[in-house]
Amino acid sequence: MIAMHTHTPVMVREVLELLHPQPGAIVVDATVGLGGHSVEIAPRLVPGGWLIGIDRDPQALEIAGRRLEPFSGAMRVTLVHADFRELPQILSARGIEGIDGILYDLGVSSLQLDSAERGFSFRFDAPLDMRMDTSRPGVTAQEIVNRWSEADLRQLIWEYGEEPAAARIAHAIVQNRPIGSTQQLAAIVARAAGRRGGRLHPATRTFQALRIAVNRELEGLQEAIEQAIRHLLPGGRIVVLSYHSLEARAVKRAFQRLSGKCICPTGTLMCQCGAERWIQVLTPHALKPEAEEVARNPRSRSAQCRAAQRLMGA
Ligand SMILES: C[S@@+](CC[C@H](N)C(=O)[O-])C[C@H]1O[C@@H](n2cnc3c(N)ncnc32)[C@H](O)[C@@H]1O
Repeated sequence: MIAMHTHTPVMVREVLELLHPQPGAIVVDATVGLGGHSVEIAPRLVPGGWLIGIDRDPQALEIAGRRLEPFSGAMRVTLVHADFRELPQILSARGIEGIDGILYDLGVSSLQLDSAERGFSFRFDAPLDMRMDTSRPGVTAQEIVNRWSEADLRQLIWEYGEEPAAARIAHAIVQNRPIGSTQQLAAIVARAAGRRGGRLHPATRTFQALRIAVNRELEGLQEAIEQAIRHLLPGGRIVVLSYHSLEARAVKRAFQRLSGKCICPTGTLMCQCGAERWIQVLTPHALKPEAEEVARNPRSRSAQCRAAQRLMGA
């Protein structure tokens, strides 16, 4: 079942151009997923390079491991089951002081969305789980919908789902407890949100909010990207693919602050954000997938690609 899964990697041409992997380089794929980007990066590191793939989903790592196996003779391939926020420890445990490149392809993989039993999608009826890391116990979406207060649910759905009907949805969730499955929740949300035009199912934003909360996807994201930048060797590159405005905001703020642009609120008299000049931003405007890619792979439609390069003297 797992072996059948594929994930069409997003904006591969743009990622490779911006990441610019070279023979002998050390490159981290911080969200290796099913290895879609890594199998394209690996041959460019041969001979002698080192690819370090990180993911917190053990099922994904198993697949990535199998796909990257053919490269392990001509270079080093290391897969690490961890949260990418642990990058400094992951590198220091392997004696690595600096890296030539790092890629983040944020969000969920097709494996997660298409595995009915993992509860990420309302296309299948399944328990509301939504944990990316299934190897250890953690808060599930089921616990959030059944235990959180109406006010906290409203805030979550408003903030992480950017959902205008958050108040109505939170009220309906609390009124209809206990909620046990994806499709039960989707039906409750759809009724509360009312019919809308457009291509999004009315429960899409609520499911996004729950997934972000279960996996604490935005906590420390800006800091993680800043950490990664500090581990780049001079001339090293960072590339980030984001899929919604909250992720994009964290990436933009990290890039702004470490390219020396103050991110303090307007009107602040003395800079307090500690902006420093480490990088040059290579994408003044985020790149988007071409129409042909979106037609071929609809999951790429919301992608934004940003990249930066560590300054030589920083
Ligand atoms: C969009 S997928 C990556 C797909 C991959 N680029 C490919 O082409 O196969 C995102 C992956 O990042 C992982 N992930 C998300 N947040 C993470 C984190 N904080 N630490 C480690 N992995 C994370 C997810 O488990 C998922 O497998």
